[in-house]
Amino acid sequence: MKTIQVNVSRYNPETDTAPVLQCFNDIAYDDNDSVLDILLKLKEEYDSSITFRYSCKCTICGSCAMRINDEARHACVTKMRDLDTTAPLTIEALKNFPVIKDLVVDLQPMIDTLRSVSPWIVADQKNVPEKEYLIKPEAITDTLQLLDKCTICGICHSDSSAIAEDARVITPIAMVKTRKLMLDPRDNLREERVKQLAELGLLKHSDEWNTTCPKGIDLASDVTLPLKQHG
Ligand code: FES
Repeated sequence: MKTIQVNVSRYNPETDTAPVLQCFNDIAYDDNDSVLDILLKLKEEYDSSITFRYSCKCTICGSCAMRINDEARHACVTKMRDLDTTAPLTIEALKNFPVIKDLVVDLQPMIDTLRSVSPWIVADQKNVPEKEYLIKPEAITDTLQLLDKCTICGICHSDSSAIAEDARVITPIAMVKTRKLMLDPRDNLREERVKQLAELGLLKHSDEWNTTCPKGIDLASDVTLPLKQHG
């Protein structure tokens, strides 16, 4: 069995002045273990007070988003075989969010800014069907399906240098939701949504977003470029 040093960021804002790395030596692992497996082992066998979120264990819920070796990723699908195991494994909270405890962050500031782009379907009230909306299969494009996978996990928000400089900057997820709604045949705002983004200054910041989205969404080619072409 291989072993590795694991550093976990520990922080309780009620008692600590800053996060500190707690070091666990000689932690046994298998190449197929995920970083979430390692965290669960630490919690069960070494220190039950380590605090982190997870739920689905299969990159659907987005709740295990954290920084792994300084890169924002989903811990449940980040395998040890994909990491450089010649150096310690370091696990920290996402950036650009207030830390509630250890690896758990408060997503509310991101959700609050997301609200500013009306991230819900705004239907034409004159054409609301009596029962459900029927959508032609050809309207459900590959891009629409891809963008629908966004879990609002906060990884792209964490990696935004614009938000690091100014917490009032609106989350990149607002761009993803806007683009998705513009492709949704049930939505009636359409071009109004692009105007809304421009007014909020989101198109201005989009060149700084170069995150690796765990769901495979390319912020540049799938989201910002098409939106700019509409603008
Ligand atoms: S636990 Fe749900 S995405 Fe990782």
